[in-house]
Amino acid sequence: MPKAGLILGIESSCDETAAAVVRSGEELLSNAVASQFTAHQQYGGVVPELAAREHLRAIVPIVRQALAEAKVTLDDIDAIAVTQGPGLAGALLVGITYAKALAFAAGKPIIAVNHLEGHIHAVLLEERQRGNHQVNFPLLALVVSGGHTHLYLAAIQGDGWSYENIGRTRDDAAGEAFDKVAKLLALGYPGGPVIDMLAKHGNAQAVKFAPVQLKGKPRNISKKQPARSPDAYTFDFSYSGMKTSVLRYVETHGLQAGIDARRAALANISKPTLEDYLRLCNQQTLDLVASFQRGLVDDLIAKTLHAAQECEVATLFVTGGVAANSELRTSFEKRAAMEGVAVSFPSRKMSTDNAAMIAAAAYPKFLAEAFAEEEFSAEAGLVLR
Ligand code: KG4
Ligand code: ZN
Repeated sequence: MPKAGLILGIESSCDETAAAVVRSGEELLSNAVASQFTAHQQYGGVVPELAAREHLRAIVPIVRQALAEAKVTLDDIDAIAVTQGPGLAGALLVGITYAKALAFAAGKPIIAVNHLEGHIHAVLLEERQRGNHQVNFPLLALVVSGGHTHLYLAAIQGDGWSYENIGRTRDDAAGEAFDKVAKLLALGYPGGPVIDMLAKHGNAQAVKFAPVQLKGKPRNISKKQPARSPDAYTFDFSYSGMKTSVLRYVETHGLQAGIDARRAALANISKPTLEDYLRLCNQQTLDLVASFQRGLVDDLIAKTLHAAQECEVATLFVTGGVAANSELRTSFEKRAAMEGVAVSFPSRKMSTDNAAMIAAAAYPKFLAEAFAEEEFSAEAGLVLR
């Protein structure tokens, strides 16, 4: 019978300050998230210094809220889990410093968690909540967020998990492409949810976006996998070209004046609604947005399913902020079913950054007593292995 670990998770890697309490990697007692949306909105992207300052402001109340909602005190907690990286160094440091202070004051062990492993465990946490404790390997996880577009082959190693990064973006992450295209078209920040909402009102076939196929040897592919031809496609992604294609379309189709007018109008609306956006976007813009989303989603699905087939995976997870995208979810489910692969997503709330995923990912480490050294610090470029 595994030990029941009551874990307080803390996450501050980017623009969400989050705290959560999870028991035994499966029972969610609370999941509190403070978004910095309004602080960064006017800049059209995350400003690192501002993010650190906002985390400082939010960290104490958010941890209190998570404990209160879980109806527990710090005394009841068995361990404190905190995101070590990857992410913004200053932002990570706020969470780590506060977690260390709490751990020291309350005499609790501390567990350092990789943010990307957290996204993978968001899916596992919810699968367990549904009573599904069986994970079939090999497992392939597509982690697709504002900072990452990574394919990991996961395996069980000892008490924990090990990961092989078999594909990643060579330039922009998928979420970054959503955000940059939204900024370019003056649709606000973060761009993913707005584009998701507006794409439903456009013709996705109106503009063609050709996928970028990168040839060569896939990175890190395990020797256990079948041999591939040297000129087969890799499982790497590339999305900066799509942003340039959108820009070219804007220039050649005279959309700039409409973009400037929209930017000016949106500056006076603090929380624009779908109706506001629809009033401020002509059909050509909606078609462009729908086509961009379709192109990106198709490419993510095609490359992931290609990797899933070559690696003969038994389970496929799709997670990270972009996994909240409606078209990605429906198309992925349809196409994976056609190819006989089972695909799991986190719920929308669990797709974007949160601390429940950090507390869940810490549980195997808690069982293995893999606690962090006192002097551990933030690692902006932490690699998942
Ligand atoms: O995982 P996350 O919250 O933070 C990072 O670790 O990056 O992901 C944030 C990213 C942003 O780029 C945001 O635009 C994107 O996820 N995103 C979406 C949607 N919701 C959030 N992208 C497309 N469709 C969505 N519905
Ligand atoms: Zn994330």
